[in-house]
Amino acid sequence: MHLAIIMDGNGRWAKKRGLKRIEGHKKGAEVVKEITTYCADNPDIEILTLYAFSTENWKRPKMEVEFLMKLLDNWLKKELDTYIKNDVKFETIGDISKFSDKLKKRISHTKEVTKNNKKLTQILALNYGARDEITRAVKKLIETKEEITEENIQKNLDISRDVDLLIRTSGEIRLSNFLLWQIAYAEMFFTKSFWPDFTSKELEAIINDFKKRERRFGGI
Ligand code: FPP
Repeated sequence: MHLAIIMDGNGRWAKKRGLKRIEGHKKGAEVVKEITTYCADNPDIEILTLYAFSTENWKRPKMEVEFLMKLLDNWLKKELDTYIKNDVKFETIGDISKFSDKLKKRISHTKEVTKNNKKLTQILALNYGARDEITRAVKKLIETKEEITEENIQKNLDISRDVDLLIRTSGEIRLSNFLLWQIAYAEMFFTKSFWPDFTSKELEAIINDFKKRERRFGGI
């Protein structure tokens, strides 16, 4: 299955503890490792897509944006071993052309080294927005003079595979421009836990609940 997660609540987690927002992101990165390792060991999960940086996140204070970029760079460097050990392939969606050359190199290196890994594909959504993704897909079709059909649009998205299960942490009940096309038939779970408090145990409980839901895809 394709599991997608909106990792929300890092800032509020930190504030609740009297810490700076960036401390929440640091703890959030540790949770990314725990959840990725769990998903690699769960044969039901083939793809894990995580919303790490949205097209709207550039509006945050410059210091926080710079921190998130640096955190990502350090994290990919530090966790390359985790990707290799757990047989996880790393991919991204979103428009990373605006990122620094250093970070772009780190991203392409991580992709290259992990490209043959099989147990799980972990996709980070970076400078990602679903409207931007759909717009880019349609532009590509116009450039290549292909017919505008659902199938052709889907093929030209950053990720074509439909989402089966979408989770958002932190109690907010909204989608925030994440994978709008791909969630057409997804089951959704919203948990009150802030992302830094989210655990593989909670994920497992959600997956068990998901398995009990009857999915009809518009049929009866
Ligand atoms: C949402 O919390 C989180 C983000 C915008 C960034 C997600 C980043 C991480 C989980 C850590 C880094 C990730 C990797 C892959 C190394 P928020 O800041 O919107 O929290 P708030 O809504 O409480 O303010």
